[in-house]
Amino acid sequence: MEKLDIHIVGLGNLGSAFLKGLNNVEDINLFLYDDLESVRNSVNNEFSIIPKDSIISIQNGVVILCIKPQNINNFFANNKNKISPDVLICSPVAGLEIKTIESFMGNKVLRIMPNLLIGNNKGFIPYVSNYDGDYFTFNENVLEKLGVTKEFDEDMFPLITALSGSGPAWYYELSSQLVNSGQELGLSLDDSEMIIKELIKALPALVAEDISFKDLVNKVKSPNGTTEAGLNSLNNDSFDRIIHDAIQKATHKSTEISRELSSE
Ligand SMILES: NC(=O)c1ccc[n+]([C@@H]2O[C@H](COP(=O)([O-])OP(=O)(O)OC[C@H]3O[C@@H](n4cnc5c(N)ncnc54)[C@H](OP(=O)(O)O)[C@@H]3O)[C@@H](O)[C@H]2O)c1
Repeated sequence: MEKLDIHIVGLGNLGSAFLKGLNNVEDINLFLYDDLESVRNSVNNEFSIIPKDSIISIQNGVVILCIKPQNINNFFANNKNKISPDVLICSPVAGLEIKTIESFMGNKVLRIMPNLLIGNNKGFIPYVSNYDGDYFTFNENVLEKLGVTKEFDEDMFPLITALSGSGPAWYYELSSQLVNSGQELGLSLDDSEMIIKELIKALPALVAEDISFKDLVNKVKSPNGTTEAGLNSLNNDSFDRIIHDAIQKATHKSTEISRELSSE
């Protein structure tokens, strides 16, 4: 089988997660790009692949766009003539709609919204495309190596971006607040951090398809116990509303970015 060329443009948080997750995948050739010399040097040191500062010409394979929404218009203006119409454009860019990419290029477009867990091949990758089938068998041979994939309507992407794309941040922020509470209430920072890190590392073992998160909460709490006292305090302080508002604000931000990108 001929190897598929994968071009990762932008080697920041997400681009390097792709690189980490794809580094040992067979049957692909990786090509890397970042405009920052310091980033290119550190990637070269870690992965022994020399990234280029910009695209010269891409005739085959897949371009994965790992750059910020604010760099997107410039990217297309500078690169659309360097990328052949046969190349698949794969975009994880928050808020960047397929129709906006189509206004620049006539290529096949796969929009995805992964999170950083793809770096450990444990991501969740929602996708939607402007074509039928699995072009270059990219989904089967590449995306599925990085985690679980599922197709969604594009209308759902702002909410999916808030829940899944930003998802790790919600858990890390909660963990960070738990560490702070432990410290404020008497533990050393190191001990508090160690307790929460061990907790987070162990949690996935209890998560299963056939048990809801509510059921898992019920397994931990007992009537009139310590957990229930804390949960009551969360309820009284409208924890549900706080989370709902954060997800709603993140969703709105994604919609706002889409509007800005499509009107530029
Ligand atoms: N981070 C996440 O968890 C996550 C999750 C889902 C989706 N996303 C999406 O992924 C994209 C990247 O996010 P990120 O957090 O990885 O951003 P980031 O850490 O800022 O990385 C972007 C990198 O791309 C470089 N770059 C910008 N324009 C370039 C170009 N034309 N050619 C080559 N390199 C270029 C940037 O350099 P400069 O600093 O010089 O611009 C930077 O090193 C965003 O659109 C975001 O919405 C991120």
